[in-house]
Amino acid sequence: MDNQVIQTLKQRVNIVDVVRRYVALRPASGRHVGLCPFHQEKTASFSVNEAEGFYYCFGCQAGGDVLDFYMRINGLEFKEALKQLAEEAGIELKEFRPDPEFDERQKLKKQCLDMHAQAQEYYRRNLNQVTGDVARGYLRKRGTSPEISTAFGLGASPDDWHGLMNHLVARGFTPEQGVLAGLLSKNEKGNIYDRFRGRLIFPIQNLSGQVIAFGGRIITEGEPKYLNSSDTPIYKKGEHLYGLHQARQAMTRSKRAILTEGYMDVLSLAQFGYADSCGVLGTALTQDQVKRLAGFCSRIDLIFDGDGAGRKAALRSAEMILHQGVGCQVLLMPDGEDVDSLLQTKGREGLEACFEKAADGLDYCLETVRKDFAPREIVAWATGFLGHLSDNALRAYYLPRLADGLGLSEADLRRQGGASGAGFGVSGGHAGGAMRQEARISAGPSGRTRRSVGSDDANDRKFIEFSIQYPDYIPHLAKRGLWNALSTDWGKTLWQRLSLEPFEDVAASLGEEDAKMWRDAIEKHPQLAGEELEEHWDSLCTWIDKQHKEMRRRELMQRLAEYSSSGDVDEVKKVQLAIQALNAPSREEE
Ligand code: CTP
Ligand code: MN
Repeated sequence: MDNQVIQTLKQRVNIVDVVRRYVALRPASGRHVGLCPFHQEKTASFSVNEAEGFYYCFGCQAGGDVLDFYMRINGLEFKEALKQLAEEAGIELKEFRPDPEFDERQKLKKQCLDMHAQAQEYYRRNLNQVTGDVARGYLRKRGTSPEISTAFGLGASPDDWHGLMNHLVARGFTPEQGVLAGLLSKNEKGNIYDRFRGRLIFPIQNLSGQVIAFGGRIITEGEPKYLNSSDTPIYKKGEHLYGLHQARQAMTRSKRAILTEGYMDVLSLAQFGYADSCGVLGTALTQDQVKRLAGFCSRIDLIFDGDGAGRKAALRSAEMILHQGVGCQVLLMPDGEDVDSLLQTKGREGLEACFEKAADGLDYCLETVRKDFAPREIVAWATGFLGHLSDNALRAYYLPRLADGLGLSEADLRRQGGASGAGFGVSGGHAGGAMRQEARISAGPSGRTRRSVGSDDANDRKFIEFSIQYPDYIPHLAKRGLWNALSTDWGKTLWQRLSLEPFEDVAASLGEEDAKMWRDAIEKHPQLAGEELEEHWDSLCTWIDKQHKEMRRRELMQRLAEYSSSGDVDEVKKVQLAIQALNAPSREEE
C-alpha cells in the first residue's frame, strides 16, 4: 500500500469532523473531548487532538489516527476504511500500487453486492404482486405495519425454483455466479435453482445499507422455519447484526442497544418505538458483534427466553459484553413469550414491565454462577473472566466486584489469576504489570486510588510535579501527548484533570495525599529558570517521545501477532517494515 496516499488522506481528512459524526465533542484546552464510543462511561475521557490528528481515550486506552478510528467505529478492514475515507476526501485510489489479488477480491465482492441488489429488488417487487399475496397476508396476520415492512425492505420469494435465477441471468449474471453469491443453490447433479422459495424475505444489510445476505421465513408448510444465507465473499456469519443499519443512529443517541434473537422481534421492537434494536441472526452472539455494537452504544440490553437454554445463552452473552467494558442488562422473557408476541399482545407496557425486572448484567452473571456452578467452577469462572480483560482499569473495576459477589477473597482471586499463567495475561507479557497496577488500585481505602512506589510511578510523579510547578507548560505537554506516556491510573487521572480543568479547581479539590504532594511540589523543589529550565524541558520531551515510540512498537508487535496468526503475509511484511523503520533512528540516538 502506498504510504503517500495514506499520509495525504490523513492530512486532508479532519479527524474532528469524522469523530463528530459519532461522538458529541466539546472543545477543551486545545483538544476536543467527549464520551468514548468504545467503552461505557459517564465522564468524558475520550479526547481528539485535531492538530496532531489522533484520538485517545483515557478510560479504555483506545487510540490512534483518523483511519484507526474509522475502522474501529465502522467495523471495517484497513483497506475498506481507507477506500471509504479516500472517497469522502476525493482522493483517487489510482495512486495505490496495483494489488491484483486485492482487486480480484474487490471485483468479486462488487459482483456479489450487485447481485444482492438485484435480488433485493426482485423479492421486494414480488411482495407487492399477486405472487406475494400469501406473504402480505402473513405480515398482516403478524401485525407488521406497511411502514416497517418498507423500512426493513421486506420481500417475498415466490414458490418458484428458477424465479430469481432467471431474473439474474436476464441481468447478465451467470447461474454459477449466483451460487457463489449464495443466492442460488446447486445440487449433486449440478442443477442450479433458487435458494429461497416460498418465504418471507428479510434482507440483511451492512452498515452502509447495502444488502449482503438474506433471511427467509417459511410462510406455508415446510422446513426449516428460517433459512439464512450461507457465508459468501460479502457475508460471514457472526459478523453482522440484523437491523443495525436502521438502528445505528438511534443507538448513538440513546447509547443503548436492545439485542434480541429473532427477525420478527426486531421488526416489532422498531414498530413499537424501540428504534435502537437489532438481532443476532441465528447464531450465538460473537465477539465481533459485540465489538461492532460497542462502537455505537455503551449499554446492551439482552433479551432472551426465560428457559434454561435462554438463561445459559444470556450468561455467555453478558460475559462477552462485560469483557469489552460495555454495560448490559438481561431481560428474561416470561414462559412461552418472545418480544414480538409480548409487544403484539401487551404493547409497550408489557415490555416495559420486563425492563423493570431486568437484571444488571454483572449481577446476573454473578447470581447465575453462584447458583448453578460448583465451587471449583466458580473460581475458574472468575479467573477466566478476569483473564479475558485486556485493560487494567477494567480489571481493577471488576476484581472487587467479582470477589464480593461470589464470596471469594480478593487476594486469593488475584493470586489465582497470577498463578494460572493463562490468567490475567491477555495483553501478552504485561500480566505482571497488570497485577501490580490492580493491586495498587484496589488496595486503597474506600476504593480511592492510591499511589505506590515503583519506577512507573516515579516518572508519572515527575510530570505531574512539573505541571504543578510550571503550569504554563501544561498545554505544551498536552500537545506533546503526555497522556500516552503516563503509566499509572493515578498519573493519568490527575493529568487528565490538569489538562482539562482550570488549575485552581484542581488544586482546590484534591485528596489529602495529593494535596500534600502538590504543596511539596510548590514549596520544596528548586525553581528552574532560563537555560536550566529549557534543558529540563528538553529532557522531558525526549522521554515522552521515547515512550510514544515504545507504544507504537508494542502496537505494531500486536498487529504483527494478529496478522501472523491470520496468515496475512502482505500485512505481516508491512508491519515488519514499520517496526524496522521505528527501530532505526532510535539506534542512532543511543
Ligand atoms: N433461526 C434461524 N434458523 C432456524 C430457526 C431460528 O436462523 N431454523 C433464528 C432466526 O433469526 C429467528 C431466531 O433464530 O428469528 C429465533 O427463532 P425462533 O424463536 O424459532 O423464531 P421467531 O423469531 O420467534 O420466529 P417466529 O416469531 O417467526 O415464529
Ligand atoms: Mn416469535
